Amino acid sequence: MALLELRDVYKTFPAVRGGQAVEAVRGVDLTVEAGEIVGIVGYSGAGKSTLVRLINALESTTSGSVRVDGQEITTLRERELRQVRLGIGMIFQQFNLFSSRTAWGNIAYPLEVAGVPRQEQHQRVSDLLHFVGLADKAHSYPDQLSGGQKQRVGIARALATSPSLLLADESTSALDPETTEEVLALLRRVNRELGITIVVITHEMEVVRSLAHRVVVMEAGRVVEEGRVLDVLSEPQRPVTRRFVGTIVDDEPDAETLAALRERHPGRFVKLSFRGHDVRQSEVFGRLLRHDVRFELVYGGIEEVQGDTFGNLTLALDGAPAAVEAAIRDVQDLVPTKELG
Ligand SMILES: Nc1ncnc2c1ncn2[C@@H]1O[C@H](COP(=O)(O)OP(=O)(O)O)[C@@H](O)[C@H]1O
Ligand SMILES: [Mg+2]
Repeated sequence: MALLELRDVYKTFPAVRGGQAVEAVRGVDLTVEAGEIVGIVGYSGAGKSTLVRLINALESTTSGSVRVDGQEITTLRERELRQVRLGIGMIFQQFNLFSSRTAWGNIAYPLEVAGVPRQEQHQRVSDLLHFVGLADKAHSYPDQLSGGQKQRVGIARALATSPSLLLADESTSALDPETTEEVLALLRRVNRELGITIVVITHEMEVVRSLAHRVVVMEAGRVVEEGRVLDVLSEPQRPVTRRFVGTIVDDEPDAETLAALRERHPGRFVKLSFRGHDVRQSEVFGRLLRHDVRFELVYGGIEEVQGDTFGNLTLALDGAPAAVEAAIRDVQDLVPTKELG
């Protein structure tokens, strides 16, 4: 069963001081299955944060239906909503930790609010600190912790009430690339080891590539594209999606780059597209080596997506024309190729 189901959801913020009303979310349909990691990607102002706030009912919808674990939440009273929110963990870009509380105190906070008995609180906080690898930082205050450590405390706090859904809004946007990878690895464990469904909101396609199973692209309040991450990366349909994909994978050199490359590399230029099937680079290069040609990798790269390979490599192939022709035909059986003019 779907853990989260949005149907035709709208959110309009009324006009203030003679300004215009803002339609932040416009007719969004979204289904998230239990156990999935879904990435919602879009530029600033696309409506991502508003969507998150509708899911945990921090904002009320203008119209449409939001079901969490089968329960329609748009018609619930505040008292009932508090119960629903216990099942939804939330982490933020700016961590939102209490600076006056230690790591331990921050993680214990939601348990105190929920009235969990002291002994049980103690066990839970201790388990969570171990899970996020911060057992030795229990008594540190946020300003004594690094960005990555603060976010790990944020994740532990979000997990305190054992939610089935975790919402992460730009949770790595304030972190450097290395720390980002560390936090993403922790979120992967949250999903795999605890079975928690995760919705990550981000403007960074790299976060989607490395973490999500499925991606939803938002633009101007609407969902404009969605699908398995590998499929969307391989064949982005919308201009906005292509721009996002372009930030993480090189397609082929533009005309100017191509001209510069040709000055340095003789031969025919061929782009090979790896699309996550079971083609290995070693097989492709093995085939080329059977021919009397010289080849050099001049542009592109390969990324990993959910254990599949994905990317484009442009090679310069040089040698006797017949040998180069035969080599190209030989790899065409393995991967889609395109000759660059
Ligand atoms: N509380 C609010 N009142 C009025 N307008 C808002 C409010 N929150 C967000 N908006 C507007 O809604 C649109 C979507 O914002 P947001 O959901 O924050 O986008 P994103 O998270 O994708 O950057 C923006 O135009 C923003 O200015
Ligand atoms: Mg936002």
